[in-house]
Amino acid sequence: MKTRKIGQSDLEAGILSLGAWAIGGGSWWGENDDELSIKTIHSALDKGLTWIDTAPVYGFGHSEEVVGKALKDRRSRAILSTKCGLQWRNQQGSDSFSRDGHEVYRNLSAQSIRQDLEDSLRRLQTDYIDIYYTHWQARKGGASIEETMTELLKMKQEGKIRVIGASNVNTAHLDEYLKYGRLDVIQEKFSMVDRRIESELLPYCEEHQITLQTYSPLEQGLLTGKIRMDYVIPAGSVHENKFWWIAENRKLVIDMLNGWSDLTEKYGCAMGNLVIAWTAARSEQINVLGGARKLEQVEENAKAGDLILDKADLDRMTRDADAIITTSQS
Ligand SMILES: NC(=O)c1ccc[n+]([C@@H]2O[C@H](COP(=O)([O-])OP(=O)(O)OC[C@H]3O[C@@H](n4cnc5c(N)ncnc54)[C@H](OP(=O)(O)O)[C@@H]3O)[C@@H](O)[C@H]2O)c1
Repeated sequence: MKTRKIGQSDLEAGILSLGAWAIGGGSWWGENDDELSIKTIHSALDKGLTWIDTAPVYGFGHSEEVVGKALKDRRSRAILSTKCGLQWRNQQGSDSFSRDGHEVYRNLSAQSIRQDLEDSLRRLQTDYIDIYYTHWQARKGGASIEETMTELLKMKQEGKIRVIGASNVNTAHLDEYLKYGRLDVIQEKFSMVDRRIESELLPYCEEHQITLQTYSPLEQGLLTGKIRMDYVIPAGSVHENKFWWIAENRKLVIDMLNGWSDLTEKYGCAMGNLVIAWTAARSEQINVLGGARKLEQVEENAKAGDLILDKADLDRMTRDADAIITTSQS
């Protein structure tokens, strides 16, 4: 597995990381076999996916608990990230949404993120977090970035977190974060068929030596080529109403992937490997964050960590993805 440095920190991780959202289960992803999730995390570490990402809201604490159990006897081998700022303890905050009987609020106040950290450390059975992300900024109002960042810097000084990160931000947010101290990584949605970050955020990260950890690179499984037109999306699941999962758009993706069978043959790899390798090749600043909760998925995905695609193939894939993006918008 190739590795890359995380921002300007002294941490380095495999270019493919393991996201543990699905491991949380609940109505977003459906129920799970936790023992299998733990084996999947162990296999990920063995195969060089050293960065394990979770968040309190994934399964309302369950993902963090499973990750905590998995890492208990091998904590030092992992780079562990979790997040703050989405809370369901009380009604304080903004932009609330309901899920699985909980009302979740965005809250990045110093007091609230301090409580988030203590809860996460307990569930994760650890006394430090390698990378601590703010999960979502309030759309309007909410705590100032100065307040949030001051508290994060305090946590860093105390040794409870090692690296500060932010997720779902824009460049104005980042300008503000960087006024108060070092921020080494952001986590944003990016896939071959969703390239919105390429215009501003990616160049910003390249200029400021911030790692861009890209989530949902497989469009939640669709870009593995294993989801067919007859797949029925469970009501309320994470795939419901997702742009590329809607029948007419799904067909565009499936047809595009079918056109790459010569590439999977040429490289002797799975379709998802091509997609992960394309994503990692987009910039030296990128770390690819893919989800997996089954052994065979992580074993397959790990093979992308050493896969280098020829420039002509990368360009062809980019052109094909551009073409279906254009068609889907017309
Ligand atoms: N910061 C944020 O706001 C935010 C938002 C979303 C995600 N994230 C993070 O990013 C991580 C990755 O996002 P994601 O889960 O949406 O990404 P993804 O990598 O696009 O999709 C993951 C899903 O794809 C399927 N899959 C993966 N490998 C496969 C394989 N080899 N064969 C068949 N299916 C395969 C699995 O679905 P099944 O489990 O159904 O089999 C898996 O759960 C999350 O776990 C989370 O840590 C962060």
